[in-house]
Amino acid sequence: MKVMRFPFIALVLLALATACVTLLQSGTRAYGSMVHAKQAQTSSAAIARGKYLVEDVARCWECHTPVKDDGSWDRNQWLRGGRVFIRPVVPNGNWAERAPGIAGFPGFTEEQGEHILEKGEAPDGRALQPPMHTYHLNHADAVAIIAYLKSLSSSD
Ligand code: HEC
Repeated sequence: MKVMRFPFIALVLLALATACVTLLQSGTRAYGSMVHAKQAQTSSAAIARGKYLVEDVARCWECHTPVKDDGSWDRNQWLRGGRVFIRPVVPNGNWAERAPGIAGFPGFTEEQGEHILEKGEAPDGRALQPPMHTYHLNHADAVAIIAYLKSLSSSD
């Protein structure tokens, strides 16, 4: 009898071990998809916050969207760059004529964009030309703004 019991116990242990591995695997898969869902949620939350900061707080579009002949901003060219329409009252030799297109965030890496928005200077350390503001945003806000700008198309 003793001889027979050993293979039986071994079989039960093997079955238990297989069940554990299967459970662990499905648990890992479930955790993986939770992480993906969380990341997607975070980036859509970041885009929504970036949109709010760009449109309602910093109002980047006032300079970075072209103005139509009737004086209104061209919604079809949203944030695609335009002629600067404001002039300094006191002459300023460094005043920029144009604001570049920032829809799609072309021309800069995310790190460079973070530098511009967090340090208030160009990525190479050059002083930004007014009327571009020297923003000193916190990192999360800069990341959110760049995520929103990257979600936009730079052309039709
Ligand atoms: C009052 C006008 C104005 C507003 C508001 C404004 N910008 Fe600008 N921006 C400019 C002008 C003009 C330039 C070109 C000056 C320069 O590059 O030195 C510029 C340049 C830039 C550049 C390129 C910088 C570089 O290193 O060449 C980026 C990126 C940028 N702006 C992003 C933004 C974002 C994002 C916002 C909103 C959070 C914003 N701007 C708000 C006028 C503005």
